[in-house]
Order: sequence, then C-alpha cells, then structure tokens
Amino acid sequence: MKKFYITTPIYYVNARPHIGHAYTTIACDTMARRQRMLGADTFFLTGTDEYGVHVERAAIAAGRPPEQWTDEVSAAFRQLWDRLGITYDDFIRTTSERHKRGVQALWSKIRDNGFIYKGHYSGHYCIYDELYVDSAGPGAPCPECGRPTETVQEENYFFRLSAFQEKLLRLYSEQPDFIRPETRRNEVVSFVRSGLRDLSISRSSFKWGVPVPGDPGHVVYVWLDALSNYVTALGYGSEDPSRFEKYWPADLHMIGKEIVRFHCVYWPAFLMAAGLPLPKSILAHGWLLFEENKMSKSRGNIVRAETILEVLGGDALRYFLLREIVFGQDGSFSFDALVQRYNADLANGIGNLASRTLTMITRYFHGEVPYPSPAAAHQTADDAIRKSANQAIAEYQSLFDQYQFSRALELAWSLVASVDKYIVENEPWVLGEEANEQSRARLATVLYTSAEALRIVTALVHPVIPQATRRIWTQFGLGNIGTFDLSSLKWGQLQLGTKLGKVEPVFPRADKSAVERMQTMEEEAPRAATAAEAPSQAKPSAGSHRTPAVPSPPSAVANHKISIDDFTKVEMRVGEVKVAERVQGADKLLRLEVDLGGEVRQVVAGIAEAYAPETLIGRKVVIVANLAPRKLRGLESNGMIVAASAEGGRPVLASFLEDVPLGARLK
Ligand code: ME8
Ligand code: MG
Repeated sequence: MKKFYITTPIYYVNARPHIGHAYTTIACDTMARRQRMLGADTFFLTGTDEYGVHVERAAIAAGRPPEQWTDEVSAAFRQLWDRLGITYDDFIRTTSERHKRGVQALWSKIRDNGFIYKGHYSGHYCIYDELYVDSAGPGAPCPECGRPTETVQEENYFFRLSAFQEKLLRLYSEQPDFIRPETRRNEVVSFVRSGLRDLSISRSSFKWGVPVPGDPGHVVYVWLDALSNYVTALGYGSEDPSRFEKYWPADLHMIGKEIVRFHCVYWPAFLMAAGLPLPKSILAHGWLLFEENKMSKSRGNIVRAETILEVLGGDALRYFLLREIVFGQDGSFSFDALVQRYNADLANGIGNLASRTLTMITRYFHGEVPYPSPAAAHQTADDAIRKSANQAIAEYQSLFDQYQFSRALELAWSLVASVDKYIVENEPWVLGEEANEQSRARLATVLYTSAEALRIVTALVHPVIPQATRRIWTQFGLGNIGTFDLSSLKWGQLQLGTKLGKVEPVFPRADKSAVERMQTMEEEAPRAATAAEAPSQAKPSAGSHRTPAVPSPPSAVANHKISIDDFTKVEMRVGEVKVAERVQGADKLLRLEVDLGGEVRQVVAGIAEAYAPETLIGRKVVIVANLAPRKLRGLESNGMIVAASAEGGRPVLASFLEDVPLGARLK
C-alpha cells in the first residue's frame, strides 16, 4: 500500500489564525483527502510553532504567562481547523514534551556526527522572521519584513552549514522536483551557489525555547526547533519510532514562499548532518493578498476564516481559494469575488445541477435511478456527455498531480456547464409531461446521463468541497463518499434502480448583503494586528467537531431576500382533505389524503395536537405540492400542509374566505 505523508508549516502563535493560514491548510487537506480516496495510507500533520522571542513578547504584552498564552492561541488554530473540517491526523505543538525530546535527539545526533561547534556570534537578528541578517549596521531593516533588526552578540553553537553547499547543489540538480515551482527552485539554487556560511543554532539571552542538550543555558534556534516537528510528530527520538519508520520521509512539505530558504536549504542540511532521509518534495505557494498587500498579522489587514464560515460555509472558502488563485502565484482576496464565485459556481453551478437532476428523478421515477435506453436520434448528445466525463476524470487527476488546483476545478465545472446545457436542450420537464412511452424512455436516458455525470463531478471534487459533496452523495443514496475508491471512478457505475435519499439544496444562493455582512463582521472583530491583543478568549465553538456530517446551512441566506424565480419554485396548491386519521405511535402526526383536483396525495402532517382528524374532512387547505417525498413513521408524505405558527408553535391552517377551485395555484 502506498503511503502519503503531507505537512503544513506549523504556525506561530503570536496572533490568531487568518485565511492566509487557512489557505495552506486547506490545500493540504484537499491533497490528503484525495490521497485517502485513492487508497494511500495517508498521514497529514499540522501544528503550532510556540517558542521564540516574539511569541514570548506577545504573551507578555497580553499580560499572560507564555504557557497560558500559547495554550490559548494554539487552541484557536485547532478549533478553526476543526470547524473547517480539516482532516489532520496529528497536531504537533513545539511546547510539548514529545517534541522537546525529539529536538534534543536530533541535536545530539548532529553534534555526534561532528557538525556542531561553539563559537561567537555577532550580528543582527529579526525576531519576527527568526532570521539572521548578516549585512549592514545596527538597526538595519530585515530584508523580509522591513522591521528593524536587533543586535546580537553571544556565545552560540554553530551548525556547519558550509559543509553542505555542494551536497545541496547536487540534490537540487539530481531531484528537480525537490523544490517546486521552478521559480522558487532557481532562487534557492542561486542563493546556495553564492556561498553558505555556518549558522548560529542556539541562543542564550532568553529562555523560551527547547534547552540545548548538555548546556541548558542555551535554547535551540527556533527554526531548527520548528523544522524538527516534521519528524518529532512521528516519534523520532522516542521509544516508539514505528510511525517515523512508516511515514518518513515526507512526501510533501507545503509552505508559503517566504519560508523557502528554511525548508529547502537548512532543513535538508540538518537532515543530511543527522544521516536521515530527505523529504521528497517541497511545494511553495504564493501569497494571499488583501488590498494589494500580503495579508499578515503584522500589517493588520487580515480576514478571519470564521466570518466566511459563518456566512457562506467552509466549502465556499475552500472552493474560492483553490479555484481563484493560481497555485504558486500570489492572488487577491475580496468579499465581492468570493460571493460572486459562490453564486456562480456553487449555488447556480453544482448546487443547482444536483437539485434539478435529483428532483426530477424523484418526481418522474419515484426517486429511483432510471434505466437509460438510448434512442438513435439523440445518441450523439448522450455520448458527448459520457466522453467529456471520462476525459474529465483523466485530466483532472493529472492536473491535480501537478497541483494545478484552479485548472482542475475549471475542468470539473466545464463538465457541470455541459450537463446543464444538455438538460436545457433535452427538456426533461417537457418529456415528463408527455404521456407516451417514447418520451418516457428518452426522459430516463436524459436523467440517467445527467445523474451519472453529476456523480462523477461529485466524487472528483469531494476533496475540495467535502461537506456539500457528502450531502449530494447521500441524496444519491450512495453511502459514505469518504470511503469511495476514487481510483476506480468511471462512467456507468451508477446502478440502475439506486434509491435516492431526501433531496435538498446544498448551496442556497447568497445575495449582495452577504458582502456587507462579512465586511461588518470583520470591522467589528478585534484586530489581531498587535501582539497585545488576546485571542478573544479562545471560546470553543459550540458543536464544533471533526468532519461535520451535515453542516447546518449557512445562516446568511436565511435572512436574505429571494428573487421571484426562487419563489416560483415553490408550487403551492389548494386541496381538500378527504381522509384524516391519527398515525399509530405518533402523537403529533395525522395522515391526510388531500384532493388537489384530479390527484389525491397522501400527506403526513404534524398537526394532531391542534386538530382532531374528523374536523378536517372536507376542509380546504394549502399544500406545497412539489416537495420531494419523505418518509415519516414509514409513511410516505407527498407534500406539506401550510400553516401559520402561532404561540408555542401551535399550527393554524391556512384557508380562504372565498370559494376556490381544487388545484388552484398560489402565486
Ligand atoms: O512562518 N498568504 O509561521 P507563520 C499565503 N512558524 N499564505 C500565508 C499567508 C498569506 N498571506 N499568511 C500566512 C512560520 N500564510 C513558521 C513556520 S514551519 C517549520 C515553521 C501561511 O505563522 C503560509 O503557509 O508566519 C506561510 O508559509 C505560513 O502561513 C507562515 O505562518
Ligand atoms: Mg510569517
């Protein structure tokens, strides 16, 4: 069995998470979910980086002991990942005992191999990037963030980085995929070619760190400490190295482009010095920009993922980040673009395709996937969909393997568009009203073809939008999508007669006020820009859990206005109650037979506490006639009776003062 070990950077706990962190974590989660669906034994690691001067100062500024501060902020990261349905297998904290032991083991190994010596460091240091800046005089700006560096004069331990220059250059040329994309690789190669100086790897002027083995007056340089997480989380240096043996080396370290040097130069050099295998690949993405600047806690121009989660849901954020930004390049975030994508691609795209296809199968074939019987005259159109779907499967996989998430999604959505067009051209709703056998056969084929294409798109994009696709899959009656074998995906797997589940919309449309609401929420949120701010008491989100099976629909949409088109989707008709009786074992339910003028429907209604059955016979009521059927106490209910909800939720049936014909539609 193939294994797949993937990591995110471990995030600093000097401020709360924002969608820049979510970006990397979501991309990794998508990769991890896909590998699991492909059958790989997958291990997905994330965590928090908690030592160093700037974290210690953030804690002091917040008036907290560093232990308490790091607990709070680390928990905020973890809670956000849980709310986003991130399927990490482990969450490593650098302040944990297991990590400390691992770092010390790695240090000792490198030292025993002769690559650590004691010396004197004198130079400048940026505490925010934890970076030594060799150039220029006192207070020189950090080349990464521009903030003034601090002067350091200390007796330190040094790592013989200079001994690895040739080995690293050989690595980059022998394994061209070690660093991706190529622009980053070229930068690293020229940096290493220009010469490597030995690296100071301990500090003695503060205590908030992992003590150096045998010399507790020193703490380990935070980058050596932090990078080690990728092996300490697997149990390197512990009594039980079985996970380490199974999963190391990592298949992929995913990072942002600003930390390429640490991952592509220092980390492989540390591993070589310790005699350990090297990661197979390091993939650097670009920056998420907001108002044209890198979104960062120090700039204070961050957007919190929680806001988007609350208004549009986690899938919306996941989809947007992977679809909108060309992976590897910088990309801009805006609420307008987010809502536009949400409506165009999710609500009107896959959401609408799923609901129209499954609703028609429910309406015309009693919720069972019908038997396709190709009529010669139309075969080309059906074949075209089948071909595009099979082609999409192959191309999607290859784009994903190259981390071209946006192109892969574009491809999947072009299949959605083709199926939409196919449905419009074949007019199943017209076929459904024609009562001859030929139309019926054609209808079956059109719906089968649409449903099968939808099923394929759903499986392909599950790793990107896990919640909605899980629901579509359930509506298909297909069980747990997470365990579906993606490697076997092909046209024709949808079994005839598959019984659909309850059909309901997965992406309600958002209107313009969604943008405003999110902006207001962000404006009112405590700014995480300065280290002095506490992480809003790190309140656990009620009901947050690992992978929510059925997320509650985004609350946003509930408060919003709908268009007339949305309203006309609801088919309300006048009916007359012919039969009314209690449902055995259910105090609240009545079983009604309602005449809609030519058609008698069975409706199960929760009105038994308000109406005695005999008082209803002959009464005119309003029925929502196009609701998907559902089962209550084993009885199929084909519609809903409309009632006002009075005090205490008591139902009061809608009725008319004038006489109205049965079957009349309410508009
Ligand atoms: O660097 N756009 O932690 P960090 C895209 N602890 N990605 C972004 C981003 C943005 N605007 N902002 C943050 C550290 N990220 C170290 C890492 S690893 C051994 C130690 C993401 O809290 C991106 O992945 O500064 C970036 O590399 C990471 O968060 C930096 O997080
Ligand atoms: Mg950073």
